[in-house]
Amino acid sequence: MKAAVMRGYNAPLSLEEVQIDDPGQGEVLVKTAASGICHSDLHVIEGSLPVPPPCILGHEPAGIVEAVGAGVTDFAPGDHVIGCITAWCGVCKFCTGGRPYLCPTQFVGRAPGAKPRLSARGGDPLLQFANLSSFAEKMLCPERSLVKIRDDMPLDRAALIGCGVTTGLGAALNTVRIPAGASVAIIGCGGVGLAALQGARIVGAGRIVAVDTQPWKLELARKLGASDCVNAKEGDPVAAVQALCAGGVDFAFECLGSVPTVQQAVAMTGRGGTTVLVGIVPITQLVSISAADLTLQEKHITGSYMGSNRFRFDMPKYVDFYLDGRLRLDEMISARIPLADVNQAFERMRKGEAARQVIVFDRE
Ligand SMILES: NC(=O)c1ccc[n+]([C@@H]2O[C@H](COP(=O)([O-])OP(=O)(O)OC[C@H]3O[C@@H](n4cnc5c(N)ncnc54)[C@H](O)[C@@H]3O)[C@@H](O)[C@H]2O)c1
Ligand SMILES: [Zn+2]
Ligand SMILES: [Zn+2]
Repeated sequence: MKAAVMRGYNAPLSLEEVQIDDPGQGEVLVKTAASGICHSDLHVIEGSLPVPPPCILGHEPAGIVEAVGAGVTDFAPGDHVIGCITAWCGVCKFCTGGRPYLCPTQFVGRAPGAKPRLSARGGDPLLQFANLSSFAEKMLCPERSLVKIRDDMPLDRAALIGCGVTTGLGAALNTVRIPAGASVAIIGCGGVGLAALQGARIVGAGRIVAVDTQPWKLELARKLGASDCVNAKEGDPVAAVQALCAGGVDFAFECLGSVPTVQQAVAMTGRGGTTVLVGIVPITQLVSISAADLTLQEKHITGSYMGSNRFRFDMPKYVDFYLDGRLRLDEMISARIPLADVNQAFERMRKGEAARQVIVFDRE
């Protein structure tokens, strides 16, 4: 099958013919229908997340089950599915305590020494990213990386739910449960930020301020529910948000992953408010913030990982939200591209020229 392989950091992905194994115990072979492109893939390419090459990236997929391995009970050929990076074991303290997205086994693949799921033409193993590797025509996944969805959900839009939408919507709905009427700021209106913004709109937040550096992203944010927009290139975004929201917001979502924007998010959080860190700051960088500011104003800071999901519960619900018109995914897709254009898509992402770009396989 065709796949885009990361052969080194900061280099274009290489389009190659690769091999995929047959499904083993508990595994499902999925024909990839579509894969969104998330900034986390770019973080890996740029070396800010520790995933070593050679590897096949892509972790925002939807597809159709082609075959199932021994012991698989939850899926059958023909099922429409979404894949998620937070596979769960079901027995650890996080899984049994109701937070399966924190399961420490989520990135564990086949047992050491077992035949690799993915290999290059010559037989050398290729690392599978997060049990998915969706920049490829097929995926071989543990059944607990997948959720079955309604057949009437278009798969190119379903793919977005695999990571960005679940991350953003879940940050708003699960991690902090924004109450109706609360004021919200979203810094960074890419796929993740626009999903957090829609979460705020869906729960009936009050003022929703979108912050980005691209005027067209702010226009899109307004269409998706922002009541106010702040261009971070034109003046101080913290002062602008404070002026709009009585000194600061109840919830500030950082959906970008940089040191200055994390500091801005904390600064624009109002007294007693909560800063939600969704963007991934490169792991080598530390952020300094005023501790006194937290103490004296009782601000909270929380991280939000993969929308604090229980994806077998959340994702079918998000599909319903799309099909009943509450969650708007069509507007979030700026381009549908063939796998061969994946490198140009990363260039557009670097320049902030895209909201979500989706690789669609059937068009090839
Ligand atoms: N927490 C999680 O579990 C999780 C899951 C998925 C992605 N992420 C992370 O979320 C972040 C966002 O991902 P994405 O795919 O939406 O990225 P993206 O590249 O699509 O969006 C980033 C947005 O930030 C805007 N921007 C750039 N500079 C800015 C500035 N100074 N101020 C305000 N806005 C600015 C860009 O114009 C763009 O709209 C990434 O760091 C990604 O790795 C986290
Ligand atoms: Zn992602
Ligand atoms: Zn577990």
